[in-house]
Amino acid sequence: MEKNADNQVAGSRGAYRDRPPEAIAGLSERLAREIRENGPLGFDRFMAAALYDPQHGYYAGRRGQVGRAGDFFTSVSVGPLFGHLLARHLVAFWEEIGRPERWRILEVGAHEGQLAADILAALPELDATAAGAVEHAIVEPLPSLAAAQRERLGERVTIVGAPGDLDPLPGMLIANEVLDALPCHLVESTGDGWIELGVGFDDGFQWVPLGPAGELAENLPRRPAGYRTEVRRGLDEFLRGFLPALAPCRMLWIDYGYERDDYYAEGRVEGTLRTFSRHRAGDDPLDAPGSRDISAHVDFTSLREATEASGGEVMRFENQGRFLTKIARPWLLSLEGRTDAARSLRQFQTLTHPGQLGSRFHVMEAAWRTAPLCE
Ligand SMILES: C[S@@+](CC[C@H](N)C(=O)[O-])C[C@H]1O[C@@H](n2cnc3c(N)ncnc32)[C@H](O)[C@@H]1O
Repeated sequence: MEKNADNQVAGSRGAYRDRPPEAIAGLSERLAREIRENGPLGFDRFMAAALYDPQHGYYAGRRGQVGRAGDFFTSVSVGPLFGHLLARHLVAFWEEIGRPERWRILEVGAHEGQLAADILAALPELDATAAGAVEHAIVEPLPSLAAAQRERLGERVTIVGAPGDLDPLPGMLIANEVLDALPCHLVESTGDGWIELGVGFDDGFQWVPLGPAGELAENLPRRPAGYRTEVRRGLDEFLRGFLPALAPCRMLWIDYGYERDDYYAEGRVEGTLRTFSRHRAGDDPLDAPGSRDISAHVDFTSLREATEASGGEVMRFENQGRFLTKIARPWLLSLEGRTDAARSLRQFQTLTHPGQLGSRFHVMEAAWRTAPLCE
């Protein structure tokens, strides 16, 4: 691959508008040094460092990023109803697989543990036996987040650095807004092909061409010159990593994204890469790495392909509104005549209304039916 830091296609020079705190500057300096010594970085590596550097990454060093006082909202920050409804879905799964004496909820991207707390609060109300039989396990590679989860949840959860640290149990993986935070590559159309863009450094980080996009572009349609988008690789291995911990295995991924045709639609000329800081979306992911969230939508067609490649089968793909409304039916009926449910109903509306989170998020659920596939 050609790597030429001088041959930039677009820049973000001098993009340090809010002078970052020392930690951010530390990460910027380290990345700049690495680029000077070894040449431009793939954007996937830049994004991985910006979000997950164990010392200075966005997710490593700070607290309180999710919620009103933080940088972005998730369905979890709407209130406990999201966890309550997922708990109903989890109990239905436990019943479907024959009410095993031990089963596992495997949460990925548990952040500071709020969703786990909401699910663990709801389970005993829904089914005491299911609640008594469950192990809520969290896969958390970042020590600072694992510490925050332990602080909030105590011994009610098992926290591991990698799913391979768990013996297999029947169970379901749940992950809300995790895939969008996995590092991705950035590519740009030349009109008759695609190049990969990486990150160079002059007096600031800047986009530089790395050379032909090769396999990254294998599923991309022809698009006019200058069209930029993202490609996320390695979903297949990512899914396979969780299979040894769950047999039989179900996975529930909730995220924003599209099927491939829509993802790479003609009009989406600047892709979906965004930053979030104090509830404001930004479009310069090279600015002050470590200081803000970076995300890109999920290509649900690749998630489907990764599921099938690893022996699984997609059982459901629908928007969050439809998914939660089906689960909520018995709960909604139980509210009839009650006058104390206004707050929960407001949460339900935020989570399911198409104008709010109902159509913004999609749910893909997949099953790996036979134990041997989970070995
Ligand atoms: C947007 S946050 C998730 C928010 C949370 N689930 C909620 O709904 O409020 C993304 C999380 O995914 C985690 N994450 C990213 N890659 C991961 C991986 N490979 N394994 C486990 N967690 C990961 C990040 O550390 C971060 O906490």
